[in-house]
Amino acid sequence: MTDQSPTVASATDTPTVIKQRPPRIFSGIQPTGQLHIGNYLGALKQWAQLQSKYDNFYCIVDMHAITIPQDPQELRESTRRNAALYLASGLDPKYCTIFVQSHVAAHAELGWILTCLTPLGWLNRMHQFKDKSAKMQAESISAGLYTYPTLMAADILLYQTDLVPVGDDQKQHVELTRDLAQRFNSMFGETFTLPDAMIPVSGARIMGLDTPNAKMSKSAIGEGHAITLLDSPEVIRKKMMRATTDSHREIKFSTDPERAGVNNLLTIYQAFTDEPGEAIEAHFEGKGYGDLKKTVAEAVIEGLAPLQSRYYELVKEGGAIDELLAKSAERAAEVAAQTLDLVRDRVGFIRLASKVKPS
Ligand code: TYM
Repeated sequence: MTDQSPTVASATDTPTVIKQRPPRIFSGIQPTGQLHIGNYLGALKQWAQLQSKYDNFYCIVDMHAITIPQDPQELRESTRRNAALYLASGLDPKYCTIFVQSHVAAHAELGWILTCLTPLGWLNRMHQFKDKSAKMQAESISAGLYTYPTLMAADILLYQTDLVPVGDDQKQHVELTRDLAQRFNSMFGETFTLPDAMIPVSGARIMGLDTPNAKMSKSAIGEGHAITLLDSPEVIRKKMMRATTDSHREIKFSTDPERAGVNNLLTIYQAFTDEPGEAIEAHFEGKGYGDLKKTVAEAVIEGLAPLQSRYYELVKEGGAIDELLAKSAERAAEVAAQTLDLVRDRVGFIRLASKVKPS
């Protein structure tokens, strides 16, 4: 059987802090637009599977969201919707601190310090900046979009994070975070834990249904591009039946760009069902693309059903989410303050007189 456990991108070096706690996880999603099955399979699904073994921090990264212009009302709605979707995906506040990035000011402060220590060349290499900025008018590309990775590094390093479960597209950002941690540690002394990316074996890069050679993305415009987590069964069936395939017949996993559509449908099926690749190919042998699309649509509908029903229950209950976010922000701020205090000291900021302990 194919091993479905997530891979850790590289071995963790000697930890910088002696830990008397389970290994720590940090990850986040931007509250921009509707979350889709790529976000679920690349991130949320593994978060829920991992939670009981780790001390987890799951963040709604609204400060990252504003690196691209956002409508304030929509940003507020997306932030609350994401919080409800984190819970609906199975994250349990007993194991997870679920909070909003802008509620913990330490993110902005460490982000700035790290920005000042980041060579421009490191940022110039970032694929995500190149991809996103290529689609924008030059005058609307913000400096924040360029320094996005240093704020992400601050998110991760503030919590002395060991593991960062993300989709494949975030690997480069986690590598930069690790490089920055190493740079800081060698300049100022051991301060940060070096984090590793944790990438799921199946579902790490889900492609657009209408553009199978490009990653499924929240910002893509086509109606048939992404299946969102709250799409109804009818909408899922409709989108799936319109998915781009090819003029071949065989239903097999393939790395041939021409066969990317069929490969993507099989990948989605595998990530939802956790079935081994050989069994999936055997299942579809001799079948047509119509059958493939119908079967994948039903697997997605079934896979999302528990999440959708929990989400609508949470929405009916109302109110409780803001309270949870407030409580979690307090815990996050306490943990973050420990790292930030150390960092401030290491870089040479003097302490506020009221915080200096009498000797
Ligand atoms: P964002 O909001 O773009 O995506 C959130 C998560 O979803 C994964 N993902 C995908 N996985 C598979 N297939 C896809 N098509 C797909 N699209 C997105 C992403 O890899 C990610 O795990 N920079 C991050 C947010 C962030 C963050 C952090 C993550 C900010 N600070 C600290 C981890 C740790 C981002 O853009 O996510």
